[in-house]
Amino acid sequence: MTRTHTMLLAFLGLAFATGCSSASNVYNLPGTVSDGTSQAQFISSATGLDAPKVHPINASAYDLWYFDVVSTDSNASVVVIFYDTAPGTFPFVAPSNSTLSASLTVSFPNGTLSTIALEAEPAPNATIVSEGNGSSGNWHGSGFSWTYNAFSGAYDVSIDSPRLGVKGQIHFQPTGPPRYPCGPAVAGQNMEIVPNAGYSNPLPDAISTVDLLIGGTKLAFVGAGYADQGWGPQPFASAVGSWYWGHGRVGPFSVVWFDILTPSGVEYVSAYVAKDDVVLINSCDLARSKVRPTGGNAAYPPHVSADKPSGYHITMDLGVEGVLDMNVSVVAPFISIPQYMRAVGNIHGSIIPPTGPAGPVMDGVALLEQFTLEP
Ligand SMILES: *[C@@H]1O[C@H](CO)[C@@H](O)[C@H](O)[C@H]1NC(C)=O
Ligand SMILES: *[C@@H]1O[C@H](CO)[C@@H](O)[C@H](O)[C@H]1NC(C)=O
Ligand SMILES: *[C@@H]1O[C@H](CO)[C@@H](O)[C@H](O)[C@H]1NC(C)=O
Ligand SMILES: *[C@@H]1O[C@H](CO)[C@@H](O)[C@H](O)[C@H]1NC(C)=O
Ligand SMILES: *[C@@H]1O[C@H](CO)[C@@H](O)[C@H](O)[C@H]1NC(C)=O
Ligand SMILES: *[C@@H]1O[C@H](CO)[C@@H](O)[C@H](O)[C@H]1NC(C)=O
Ligand SMILES: *[C@@H]1O[C@H](CO)[C@@H](O)[C@H](O)[C@H]1NC(C)=O
Repeated sequence: MTRTHTMLLAFLGLAFATGCSSASNVYNLPGTVSDGTSQAQFISSATGLDAPKVHPINASAYDLWYFDVVSTDSNASVVVIFYDTAPGTFPFVAPSNSTLSASLTVSFPNGTLSTIALEAEPAPNATIVSEGNGSSGNWHGSGFSWTYNAFSGAYDVSIDSPRLGVKGQIHFQPTGPPRYPCGPAVAGQNMEIVPNAGYSNPLPDAISTVDLLIGGTKLAFVGAGYADQGWGPQPFASAVGSWYWGHGRVGPFSVVWFDILTPSGVEYVSAYVAKDDVVLINSCDLARSKVRPTGGNAAYPPHVSADKPSGYHITMDLGVEGVLDMNVSVVAPFISIPQYMRAVGNIHGSIIPPTGPAGPVMDGVALLEQFTLEP
């Protein structure tokens, strides 16, 4: 991989005040597995929140860019993932002769998974341009790309894949600032969500518009958008035994949760809540947030052979405001296999203040995931 520090935009006079940064870095990703050692970055720099974090991709390494939108009034959802993964390093990536591929999963308003789900488009090579807290990426030849607008902070994912029969756009206008798992998007932050697995979250929540044509069927909706990046120098399953993750909105709050067990059973969390653009918690403190399964099949720790739970109870301690207490019910589990579930959920939440009764119940939507990789 060549890593070019380029001031090209500045030289062309196109770098209007971005507030922070007039430089962009261009990364050419070769699509091949490198021999030898990868350098995985786990401490943040002042820039490059959404730049590639593993240089180069060796046979045990992975780096991926994840985007999703969940509808605010139906079971519709869309998930787009851009992979740069050596074979076998990240679960469920379709076999490919390139480390670079892109996948699309879509659920329709009735909760039915699209038949094109989980197919991947290989790309021989890719380009990522990192700028400030965002990046643009093009998986050449696959028809999958995304762009970042450093002035507005908006992201746009574009798909034009004749082979998959998919064409269209997904727009993300951020609400709330970009972040790392344990703190804000500044230099010197820990980016390990668990040991040996990195996470950055350019879009914890976004007002999103989906406009896709899938095999002739239109899928258009507005909803809660989200984007993150995940990476590691060793396979994902060597760092993560199980995880509960989700994002969504409840009342005026944007939320992101993680509650993870390593393969040896050590628990890690990351919790984010913002109200408009004000962050109320962005923490990986185990004392401040917890996710546990509820309802049917609510075994904890989760077991790969057990049925998936029907919901989750999530608490996040916002400090002086009190505790955000949420019950998330699984509404439409459109992917459910022993090692994995992805579902649209409903959130019922309320604020439990430090003293006095719980506040009114607020409603909302979530897109959630459960990995159960350990037996
Ligand atoms: C890839 O590089 C990492 C160092 O970041 C190293 O731990 C790992 O063993 C390497 N993988 C292979 C297959 O050589
Ligand atoms: C990779 O696989 C695709 C699809 O099977 C094929 O068209 C392409 O030529 C292959 N590329 C290489 C470098 O082998
Ligand atoms: C969402 O999916 C669930 C489960 O399949 C179904 O009961 C419900 O009616 C769906 N909602 C809409 C708006 O179609
Ligand atoms: C759900 O909607 C999709 C898209 O309109 C349609 O193809 C599918 O047949 C529907 N599924 C059910 C069970 O109605
Ligand atoms: C990317 O792959 C295409 C198709 O194999 C090739 O024509 C092009 O030169 C490659 N670009 C780079 C920068 O390697
Ligand atoms: C990244 O976002 C943080 C939090 O909003 C902000 O303080 C910082 O200036 C941004 N950095 C860049 C390079 O734009
Ligand atoms: C969540 O469920 C628990 C257990 O049933 C209940 O005690 C709590 O009040 C519920 N919270 C909300 C906000 O619905």
